[in-house]
Amino acid sequence: MIYTVLIPDNVDQKAVDLLEGTEGLNVVYTGKLSQEELAAQAGEAHAMIIRSGVKITPEVLAAAPNLKAVARAGVGVDNVDLDAATSHGVIVMNTPGGNTISTAEHTFGLMIALARYIPQGDASLRAGRWDRKSFVGVELKDKVLGLIGFGRIGKAIARRAQAFDMTVIAYDPYIEPSAGTELGVELVQLDALYAQADFISLHALITDETRGMLNTEAFAKMKDGVRIINASRGALINDADLAAAIESGKVAGAALDVYEPEPPTEDNPLIGMESVIHTPHLAASTSDAQVTVAVEAAQLIINTLLHDSPQNVVNSAVLT
Ligand SMILES: NC(=O)c1ccc[n+]([C@@H]2O[C@H](COP(=O)([O-])OP(=O)(O)OC[C@H]3O[C@@H](n4cnc5c(N)ncnc54)[C@H](O)[C@@H]3O)[C@@H](O)[C@H]2O)c1
Repeated sequence: MIYTVLIPDNVDQKAVDLLEGTEGLNVVYTGKLSQEELAAQAGEAHAMIIRSGVKITPEVLAAAPNLKAVARAGVGVDNVDLDAATSHGVIVMNTPGGNTISTAEHTFGLMIALARYIPQGDASLRAGRWDRKSFVGVELKDKVLGLIGFGRIGKAIARRAQAFDMTVIAYDPYIEPSAGTELGVELVQLDALYAQADFISLHALITDETRGMLNTEAFAKMKDGVRIINASRGALINDADLAAAIESGKVAGAALDVYEPEPPTEDNPLIGMESVIHTPHLAASTSDAQVTVAVEAAQLIINTLLHDSPQNVVNSAVLT
């Protein structure tokens, strides 16, 4: 049996090469298709690899009677109708680990930029000034980094922070304490983290528990002059409360890659504050991560079609 893998989106050539070099697969790499073109080409496909450029709608699924699996090269599956895929018996998978290093490195970049006023110094020089007095920063060495969420990205940050001689503590109520011990990271209660950390970096998932968790009550429990980094999800922070905590001097500054909503609206109180630095949700945006997620997606399809071993299944109901 030869399986047809349709790639109706732009993915890195390494993923295409991996599939083409695998016996038992016929690869159709079209690059990004319109929805009409996708429906027209879907009939032969046993599997598809997509990014965010195409939508897997009920219409596409109806036009793809042989389809068994869709792999998203990346994390978000908002462009896949999961209920419709499940009812068509189509397994949907993603590659959540593929951008871990890119996101961790960007977070680290934000932390250093925040500690040393790098964006502010850059803006000042570009504006024609030579101001060496306004931007006296702090070292990372011997500072306490508190990680909220100790999953893939949190762990990658911890390793990097230790190389900078930081003490790393973490709060994550859903993992075994031994996960911290192995990496030399003490897992602590949230209030203890707030009380000890000089830098707090957010890496938790958005849940009812974590939405808006960094609010006035939380800031009150933190050290004076704490610095906040968020490259996780914007909704973890109450923006008005953070702006007030910065204005009062309680929080020395914040570095943000993510917002709620995105892009941020004009009334976001944090945009334009001197002590807040920003990137527009860039943490995962590297050419390396694009390669990693595409190759991982190709491997997911190989494992599913040829070895009956799907992984990272997003619509797990399809397996029951
Ligand atoms: N900025 C970006 O471009 C970008 C890129 C990738 C991921 N992210 C975001 O980064 C975050 C972390 O991603 P990851 O790959 O490390 O995920 P992960 O699933 O590996 O880790 C998330 C951790 O959060 C923990 N958690 C859940 N509820 C918590 C709570 N109440 N308090 C503390 N911890 C809690 C979980 O136990 C888990 O260990 C996610 O929110 C993800 O959406 C952002």
